[in-house]
Amino acid sequence: MTEKVVLAYSGGLDTSVAIGWIAEQTGAQVIALAVDVGQGGEDLDTVRERALACGAASAEVIDARAEFAADFCMPALLANALYMDRYPLVSALSRPLIVKHLARVAIESGASMVAHGCTGKGNDQVRFEVGLAALAPDVVCTAPVRDSDMTRDKAIAFAAEKELPINVTSRSPYSIDQNLWGRSCETGHLEDIWEAPHDDVWGYTDDPAAGKPAQEITISFEAGLPVALDGAPMSPLAMISELNALAGAHGIGRIDMVEDRLVGIKSREIYEAPGAMTLIAAHSELESVCLERDLARFKRQVEQRWTELVYDGLWYSPLKQALDAFLTQASGHVTGDVRLRLQGGRAVVTGRRSPAALYDYELATYDSGDMFDQSLAKGFVELWGLPSKIAADRDRRAAAHSA
Ligand code: ARG
Repeated sequence: MTEKVVLAYSGGLDTSVAIGWIAEQTGAQVIALAVDVGQGGEDLDTVRERALACGAASAEVIDARAEFAADFCMPALLANALYMDRYPLVSALSRPLIVKHLARVAIESGASMVAHGCTGKGNDQVRFEVGLAALAPDVVCTAPVRDSDMTRDKAIAFAAEKELPINVTSRSPYSIDQNLWGRSCETGHLEDIWEAPHDDVWGYTDDPAAGKPAQEITISFEAGLPVALDGAPMSPLAMISELNALAGAHGIGRIDMVEDRLVGIKSREIYEAPGAMTLIAAHSELESVCLERDLARFKRQVEQRWTELVYDGLWYSPLKQALDAFLTQASGHVTGDVRLRLQGGRAVVTGRRSPAALYDYELATYDSGDMFDQSLAKGFVELWGLPSKIAADRDRRAAAHSA
């Protein structure tokens, strides 16, 4: 019986060539699997046709946008996930979803292998393979670019020789990965970390300095999840798409950073995540109002750990899953509205209200009606400082003794 390989197919040069390349190397039938995570661009029927034209035995396309929004982007929002305090995990979130479908199709079709187009220098190979090991441990993974020396030159030559229907000349100088949560852009002139990003790197955002008038929006949350925009109820998918358009028009969510990859190298990355950055700004502000202080402090540590686990390809790990349970529990009272002003590349919170607020006007006010009993503060301050005071006394005695 002919072996089968399920290939994570993007429609681009590398994975188009990989279809024939893998078939030649392994003698297996290639099943191309394209997953729509909101990357935009070509429609999926075109992608499917190309896979077949490039020699795939069959091709499957899946619209996973709603699943990606609800099951991958929303948990990242609960975690206010920003790797190195800046990168909202765009690509790191889509890989575990793609892996889930790769594993499912491999198991359903009796395939013994899956394949991806990653190089050996990035994080995405780790995310694919570590995820696969958790979801389909008996399925072997192959990566032609990394494992069988499918270099760019060879890929172009292969495409020409086999007359594959791919336009190799229209390639961008950048390596771009896009989805609903954002857009990653690397390589080309960006590899000189002193060089400012050229205008052509941006795809999801307009120029923040264009001088557009400010726009106000209100996002409503229930248990940490966004449920309505300006009062209109919305699914996570609709919410993120809508905010990408609104905030993107104001140039919000542009990030230019040098990042620590899991494989040990630093790399320069340009990200755009207008919807994600706006949601994180609103969500974390509402948390400031609704989370008790110790819970909020501890949650920050959980957020960081969660983010690192996901960045490092451990979406399906036990610790990540346990932290998800914490995040859900911690978010129970994060309900209310946040108003933001979008302008000049920034989403600035200007108002917040919540039925579950821990902010208490009568405790906070300096006006009449103040319910805070200031006489309690005197003794509190004395006891609070007592350990330091005792230690400082001891240090003075020791200093006097040794003088
Ligand atoms: N450095 C980012 C990450 O590891 C983005 C990777 C983007 N992938 C790509 N093929 N351009 O999450």
